[in-house]
Amino acid sequence: MSTVTTPFRSPKWMWGTINQESTMNETIRTILERRSIRAYKPDQLDETSIGQIVEAGRHAPSAMNQQSWHFTVIRDRTLLEALEIACKKVFLESDIEALREVAGRPDFSVFYHAPVLFIVTGDTGALAPQYDCTLAMENMMLAAASLGISSCWMHSIMMLYSTEKGKAVFSDLGIAFPERYEPFAAAVFGYSAISLPDAAPRKEGDVTFIG
Ligand SMILES: Cc1cc2nc3c(=O)[nH]c(=O)nc-3n(C[C@H](O)[C@H](O)[C@H](O)COP(=O)(O)O)c2cc1C
Repeated sequence: MSTVTTPFRSPKWMWGTINQESTMNETIRTILERRSIRAYKPDQLDETSIGQIVEAGRHAPSAMNQQSWHFTVIRDRTLLEALEIACKKVFLESDIEALREVAGRPDFSVFYHAPVLFIVTGDTGALAPQYDCTLAMENMMLAAASLGISSCWMHSIMMLYSTEKGKAVFSDLGIAFPERYEPFAAAVFGYSAISLPDAAPRKEGDVTFIG
């Protein structure tokens, strides 16, 4: 049996209809309009919004429905600042030149002054905690976007936790995760201080139809 793969090159039939306002429902519009935001107003999110965002995370799919996640919500400014300093150090000591360069900028802020950081830790004994937690976080980002709340993934949290010294930073700051759980997803959330940018252009040829 031969298989024919057809590289997808943004055919007119697709973009012609998909990006039309009239054919787009609210969920898809939210997905297409969500952006990673790197400048936040200081305003804290209210309890209802935080609750709805976490609830969206708790309703993500998970391997064998293990729901292997745990949600940690950090709003304490002093704690966020201390964690920010530790994350910045990780960037500055990274092997990746681009990270060192970004972190070396005088105005660089790891958390972009966002008022809240969500860390989704996963049970390392579960089937697929990395996927469970990442799907939960994507649900949270989309739920937030639907409420007019922006977000940005914080890879530095996972980088920090990946070293023994970094793990000690969390415990020294009194940030404890459940036994056997570790961070698989982290993001800051808040109200954007800038107008939402357009999406970066999508890569060509990243879809293959078979059949
Ligand atoms: C695994 C992963 C790690 C990321 N880490 C960071 C990060 O540490 N800091 C940051 O500002 N953005 C981070 N981002 C956000 C990406 O830069 C962003 O999603 C990408 O540029 C596309 O922009 P958009 O989210 O607005 O579509 C990360 C995204 C992913 C998926």
